[in-house]
Amino acid sequence: MPKDNGSATLHRMLTLEIARVTEAAAIAAARLRGRGDEMAADQAAVDAMRRELNRLAVHGTIVIGEGERDEAPMLYIGEDVGTGEGIRVDIAVDPLEGTTICAKDLPNSLAVLAFAQQDSLLNSPDIYMDKIAIGPGYEKGIVDLDASPEENISALARAKDVPIAEITACILDRPRHAKMIEAVRQIGAGIRLIGDGDIAGVIHTTEPDETGIDIYMGIGGAPEGVLAAAALRCIGGQMQCRLHPLKPEDSERAEAMGIADIRRKYEMEELASGDVIFAATGVTDGSMLDGVKFKKNAIVTETVVMRAATKTVRWVRTEHRTLDKFR
Ligand code: FBP
Repeated sequence: MPKDNGSATLHRMLTLEIARVTEAAAIAAARLRGRGDEMAADQAAVDAMRRELNRLAVHGTIVIGEGERDEAPMLYIGEDVGTGEGIRVDIAVDPLEGTTICAKDLPNSLAVLAFAQQDSLLNSPDIYMDKIAIGPGYEKGIVDLDASPEENISALARAKDVPIAEITACILDRPRHAKMIEAVRQIGAGIRLIGDGDIAGVIHTTEPDETGIDIYMGIGGAPEGVLAAAALRCIGGQMQCRLHPLKPEDSERAEAMGIADIRRKYEMEELASGDVIFAATGVTDGSMLDGVKFKKNAIVTETVVMRAATKTVRWVRTEHRTLDKFR
């Protein structure tokens, strides 16, 4: 792979390489779909993703990973991956987004990866994050993390020029969201409650005609927030987030990673600021991507690859015929 020539964007050859990595992770996890074993499926995806990343001619550093160095043996934050030659990239991984949905073979579990220019992703520990996101085509600032759910839904309905009843919010089905869910229902909007997988929830806002989702709201994982922001930077849309520490250690961990103000509200462009290439491969069938299909002579995967520099979105359907490579 060509060396970094100091260009303002990531090398576009990475757009194919990134798909190879998420495909391998998705295939490994998909072999364990529906087995009720989240940890085994996650481990299989982590192993496969790490193996493929280490084949790449890049000098990669994991900045969003499986955990901090002392708690995660692989793909930990700060781990160097790749052959060490070629360009320097920061890497955000979620080898299996939606471990529980994969273990239950429910929709929308994904293998997710983003390559970013050095120092352009928010380095966050695995704590909670409050998020709000909408797709492209709206004036900047029509929704705000600090506004009430009612205000945000009303503003979005006005901007879309539809009745509130035609707006659907995607929210993680958690007790912590009970008030938000009640407020959204009270005002007359619909809710798609998801069991897990808020990266997909955020991406779904970019194609409301296809997915039926206009807005994502609520508290989920911070690493998933950074990855979702990376995806929205490529497709367009708006997102705001704020870290949501539950205990003093959460704030301490964030501070240790360079986050001075835990209450800071981040815009999408601050979570993922430079050039980014984002990929997701379906593990289980979903409304955006089909899951992995194991056929007699081929394994078929579906991947979306997006690039912030050009806003290109590629839908890649791959028939893998070297079946032994994936056993
Ligand atoms: P995992 O794949 O790590 O299980 O994460 C799934 C997920 O639903 C994320 O999409 C979301 O951000 C987070 O968990 C929410 O956390 P919690 O399950 O603790 O509410």
